[in-house]
Amino acid sequence: MVQKLPWWNGAVIYQLIVRSYADGNGDGIGDLQGLASRLPYLRWLGVEAIWLTPIYPSPLQDGGYDITDFKAIHPDLGDLSAFHRVLTAAHGQGMKVVMDLVMNHTSTLHPWFQRARWAPQGSPERDIYVWSDDPHRYADAPVLFRHFESSNWEWDEVAGQYYLHRFLRHQPDLNYDNPLVQEAMLDVVDFWIERGVDGFRLDAVPFLYEAEGTRCEGLPETHAFLKRLRDRVDSHGRDVLLLGEAIQPLDEIAPYLMTDELHGAFNFALTAHLFAAIASGAVEGLRNCLSEAQEAVHGCRWALPLRNHDELWLGDGHLVPEDVIQTIRAGLHQGQGHWLNWGINRRLAPLLNGDSGSNRVLHALLYSLPGMPCLYYGDELGMGDWPGLRDRDPNRTPMAWTPARNGGFSTAPDPLLVLPPITSPGYDYRVVNVEVQKQLPASLLNWHRRMLTCRRLLPALRHGDFELLHCTHPSVISYVRCDGGMTVLVAANLSAAGASLRLDLSRWRGERTREVLWGCEYPPASDSWFVYLPAHGFSWWLIGEVEDVEGVEDVRDAEDVRQPS
Ligand code: GLC
Ligand code: CA
Repeated sequence: MVQKLPWWNGAVIYQLIVRSYADGNGDGIGDLQGLASRLPYLRWLGVEAIWLTPIYPSPLQDGGYDITDFKAIHPDLGDLSAFHRVLTAAHGQGMKVVMDLVMNHTSTLHPWFQRARWAPQGSPERDIYVWSDDPHRYADAPVLFRHFESSNWEWDEVAGQYYLHRFLRHQPDLNYDNPLVQEAMLDVVDFWIERGVDGFRLDAVPFLYEAEGTRCEGLPETHAFLKRLRDRVDSHGRDVLLLGEAIQPLDEIAPYLMTDELHGAFNFALTAHLFAAIASGAVEGLRNCLSEAQEAVHGCRWALPLRNHDELWLGDGHLVPEDVIQTIRAGLHQGQGHWLNWGINRRLAPLLNGDSGSNRVLHALLYSLPGMPCLYYGDELGMGDWPGLRDRDPNRTPMAWTPARNGGFSTAPDPLLVLPPITSPGYDYRVVNVEVQKQLPASLLNWHRRMLTCRRLLPALRHGDFELLHCTHPSVISYVRCDGGMTVLVAANLSAAGASLRLDLSRWRGERTREVLWGCEYPPASDSWFVYLPAHGFSWWLIGEVEDVEGVEDVRDAEDVRQPS
């Protein structure tokens, strides 16, 4: 009997910010009602899951990652019934819904914190957070948001003590040594699972516990709690994804992916290597990173992001080597002053100088590598950004739907909009939007849709084994994905010049080879198989006769082959 794989195995996840996606009630702020109206678009595009950045009540000092109530919806966005409508509509259309969950901290305005600061020292209420009389405690823990903060401690007048905040001073860290905190968070997880959510993107997962003399990252106690969390999730008896955000090197993330802990984690090192490869036209670092990722955790458990709502995080040599960072700095368009904190706060398209070929080749890799490709809203259009906005807002602006006012995002007058829609040259919403691109057969949007359609039809790309092929060209990466009788060959040229090369396909000698996207026939596989890839060119080929895969022959014409689950 074939074992049923969990839904996330190889699923394409579309990340969106509800507040910036679609405004359903005309107040200038995107909301759940607006999102519900756009679900058919996401189904049409072909993504399998949507990840919503935090939708909880919040003073929004950190884009909603500062929560005041874990069991409610921010009133700007709707309420629990609106959320229920989104969830059931998404499920009805065959898509899963993943929520962001911020376990490490709350907002200072959370009632727990307000109670804590007024409660006597040593009381259970005070003990919900991490306090100290000495702001030099845990001195080895780096300041993460160093563009805003110079210390991990903030003095609280009322409490007469310092509280720990690994992020902004408005985000006090919860004290996981306190069983009440652990129970409260497990209870939050139960709450949302009972409401039907399909997974959690676990924010800032390494920082739950602290210990003197360490960086306070990924401590044994943190892993122990995550195992409890996993048990609790499993006790619900259905597939609920736990996807961890740990911006760390692969070998430090691997322990989170032990079989009894998280199901998946983001591979941010890969993100950096993808950008370095496109910036330099050299793929060696990328190849090594892919091998390392598979060695660290075999299979499809890495989530693969290109961009997200944060800066393009490059770090200080801890995540990827310094030369990778320098390559990206030197090679990518980023304008003046957009090096934010540990990276660059620009969107994908402007980072790539608006070059759609670069967008395509990077996504062609993302959609064919083992793991969960993450598509950031707007990147399917090559949407631009507003570099002048504060913090990470440049890449959080409203989705461009139509050439109409505000890009069809909202009918509200301009000053009420959550952030300004993009009107910069080359990226103006009158040109770069869903409605226009839908009508242009060769548009980036239609390309993404076609790629996702092909991916859905080829189980080898979704959950097949992964093997890098030997390739002597310094700008070309090549690999195969194999599942049962199906083999998909991938080759991608990351340089801005054409590349011709020979691949050793002796293992498949004499087998039929067809390019996937357009169905073009190639000469049969051989031990010195010749291919030419134009600048930023790539190809997916199906090797061999594939008989028992429904729809593969019609991949070019496939309209909508999915059944709601
Ligand atoms: C994560 C989020 C980021 C947030 C931080 C603090 O890194 O992605 O947006 O600011 O956690 O919650
Ligand atoms: Ca609204």
